[in-house]
Order: sequence, then structure tokens, then C-alpha cells
Amino acid sequence: MSDYRIAVFGSGNGSNFQAIADQVQAGQLDVKIELLVCDQPQAKIIERAEKAGVETLVLTLKQFESKAAYEEAILERLTEKQVDLIVLAGYMKLISPVLLNAYKGRIINIHPSLLPSFPGKQGVADAFEYGVKVTGCTVHFVDEGMDTGPIIAQQAVPVLDHDTVESLHQRIHEAEQQIYPEVVRSLAQGLIKLNGRKVSKRNGFIER
Ligand code: GRF
Repeated sequence: MSDYRIAVFGSGNGSNFQAIADQVQAGQLDVKIELLVCDQPQAKIIERAEKAGVETLVLTLKQFESKAAYEEAILERLTEKQVDLIVLAGYMKLISPVLLNAYKGRIINIHPSLLPSFPGKQGVADAFEYGVKVTGCTVHFVDEGMDTGPIIAQQAVPVLDHDTVESLHQRIHEAEQQIYPEVVRSLAQGLIKLNGRKVSKRNGFIER
């Protein structure tokens, strides 16, 4: 069993957290989920973590004087738990320099569009309204920008004539739940190399 430790950060439903936790539980993903960090006390992701036996850290920004102080409190717990990788899964805050510096190249995010198209909070709706025929999801390293870091993996999802934003988002979620655990596995195995903006995987590219 590997001792690669991850923390998942989320603010909402937690379907990506669930996909990762399910694979860990099934023995398909050899990592330890040390912590769930959540900034929304009512979020469903907290319940999912409790059911999965994952420790939770629920903190809201308004409990702190500043975003830096908020992240310092999170960092303290991450350090205590010797977390190797931060996995953002529907975490609705930009990461600030406190965590970016402490976890340089060790924070990843999943976004529901084919970046660099349609960054931001409404990636699915923006792509849908634009009328694209293909959209999808992207896993990327996190930098100081909004959805701007080096891309690790992408999966395309076609937009169908009868789609609504909701039906499209549902299929994007399914794609996310496939690629996100796979990227976490590759990182845990030390297979992913970052060179400038270029990300490559030892033994070839991330297979889809
Ligand atoms: C996902 O669509 C992800 O791409 C975006 O936020 C959503 C989170 O969904 N960053 P969930 O909380 O994992 O269900």
C-alpha cells in the first residue's frame, strides 16, 4: 500500500470526491485521502466524506481576518497530515500564495470545459450558450490564475442536439469521474512530469 497522501478540497456536491473515494475503497487507487477541506458547512461533500470515513476540516473565510490567515489554518493541518497532493474538486475559491507556495506543482483542479475555452464558474453553460459541438473536461495544475495552469488531461464530450445545460453537465460529470481518479493515480505513481507548460506522462500520454 502506498503512503501517498491527498487532501480533497470541495464546496458542493462532491461527485468527484465520491469517484476518488470509491476507487480508493475498491483498492483501485492506491492513495490515502487524509482530509476533506470544505468552505461550505452545508455542502453534501461533507456527508460523503463522513460516510467514507474521511476526516473533514470545515472552515469559512469569514471566521478569519484574511484569506492568508484562512489558508494558513488549512496549511497547518495539511502539514500535520503530511499531505502530498491537494485535489480541488468543485472548490469555489481561488488558491492564494500561502498554499500555492507551500504546494508548488502539487495542486490540481478539474474544470468542466476544454480549457482554455470557457474558464470560470459557468464553464458548462458558457460552452452550451456559445453553441459548441464538442466540450468536455480538463484536469490541470493550479497556478495563481482562474483555470490557467498547465493541462494534465482532457476528455471531450459531444454536445447533442437535444441537450440542456443539465444533461450536458451530467455527461461531463461522468467524464470527470473517469479522468480525475486516473490523474491522481498517475501522480501518486510519480508518472507525471511538468516541464514549463508541458505535461507528459512516462510511458506515453495519459490514455483515454
Ligand atoms: C465539477 O463539474 C468540476 O468540474 C467543477 O465543479 C464541479 C464539481 O462537482 N470544478 P462535484 O462537487 O465534484 O460534484
